[in-house]
Formats: sequence, structure tokens, C-alpha cells
Amino acid sequence: MIKHFLMHAYKTPAKEEIQRVNQLQRDFFSKLIHVFDPPLPKGVPERLEKIVASAKIAKGDVVLDVGTGTGILIPLIQAYEPDVIFACDISEMMLVHLQNQYPYAKTIAADVRDLDLPDQGIDIVFLNACYPNIADKNKSFRNISRMMKPGGHMVISHPMGRSFIDSLKKNSPFPLDDFPEKSEGKILLEPYGFDIQEFIDESKLYILVATKQHRG
Ligand SMILES: C[S@@+](CC[C@H](N)C(=O)[O-])C[C@H]1O[C@@H](n2cnc3c(N)ncnc32)[C@H](O)[C@@H]1O
Repeated sequence: MIKHFLMHAYKTPAKEEIQRVNQLQRDFFSKLIHVFDPPLPKGVPERLEKIVASAKIAKGDVVLDVGTGTGILIPLIQAYEPDVIFACDISEMMLVHLQNQYPYAKTIAADVRDLDLPDQGIDIVFLNACYPNIADKNKSFRNISRMMKPGGHMVISHPMGRSFIDSLKKNSPFPLDDFPEKSEGKILLEPYGFDIQEFIDESKLYILVATKQHRG
């Protein structure tokens, strides 16, 4: 049992490796900014709406979009009338593009593991098409959990499905991790105080909704 747990626990890479991966991503995504501009591939806008709906945002909520990129989710989140949307990314170029389009979002250039928002202030967290990219998942999920209100929802998602990552791996200059299956997700996220609430794993849609526990 312990062995099983250790096999599925996140490992923390060395500081230099995290910096190397993050710099490769900044360079890579700064050249790709317009790839994320509409029109998006067929079916993606509808699946993004499903992803945002799965968070069950209430009017007045505080929302954080991690690895927000050019802010593909921002107008969909705004439709639920949250109090504030924080948009976090390690790529400043992506955030400049986002701010021009959605001036109401509060952009923060940071690795989510170092994001310095207050304890228990956030209701909803999105990680859309971003989970595979996060170099230090251990510190990142610990920090996300710290910032979230108990009962809040975290949505890990991809609008092209889990297997899409395989097609990206071939040409990616930095490592990309697979999205977890449901049983793996439970083992990986429970240590950070999350319970899996909803899980969808279709050929072109991946959604894992985790709830921040009230205890711990
Ligand atoms: C594939 S893009 C997805 C962008 C956006 N969420 C979307 O759905 O279009 C992944 C983004 O995650 C960002 N990213 C990667 N690691 C990150 C980290 N540790 N903290 C914050 N952002 C990160 C990258 O810079 C990139 O903009």
C-alpha cells in the first residue's frame, strides 16, 4: 500500500531543472501566442463551456486561472459574474496579450508554486491544458490548496482529451506529464486536501473536479 502511494506521489525536481523547464516554456509559448486566437478547432468552444460550467462558479466568487496563457477561459468565466479573476502564467508575453483583450482580469506573472495570494481566499481554480506543463506539482498543489477556501473547486481539464498530450510530446522541448486516471488522481491529490468530485475522461474531453476538504 505504501509502495503504491510512493509510486504515485509527485516528486520535486531540482531548482535548476524547474528553472530550465520554465524558461523553455516561456520561449516556446512566446512564439505561439496567436495559435490560441479564435477561431478554435471544431467542438472546442463548446467543450470549454462545459469545463467552465463544471466548476459551478457562483456570482461574487474569487477565481484563479492557472497557466491562463492568452486567456481562452477568461470571457467564459466572466459570464458567471465573479468578483475577481486572477490570471496567472509564467509567460509574460501571454499575459500582455490577455490583458489587451480582457482588461478586467488581474494578471500575475508567476509560477503557481510561488503565487503569493492570501490563505483561503479563492473559491475556484482552473488548470486548463496546463497540468502536464507544471514542473513542480508538489509545491504547486500545496500552494493552490493553501490559497483555496474549504469547499472550493479546482478543475483540471483539457478540451482535446487526455491522449492529445501524446501527440504533443513528440515535438515538445520540455517534459509533459500525462493527465491522471481517476484512481491516480485520488492518490495524487488527497495529500493536498482534495477529494475528487467529478471525473470525465472522453476521447476529446478531460475534466477532473476536486473539492478542497473542510478539514486539514
Ligand atoms: C498549453 S498552454 C494553455 C493555456 C490556456 N490555459 C489555454 O487553455 O489555452 C499552458 C500554459 O501554462 C503555462 N505554465 C506552465 N507552467 C506553469 C506554472 N508552473 N505556473 C503558471 N503557468 C504555467 C505556460 O506558460 C502556458 O501559457
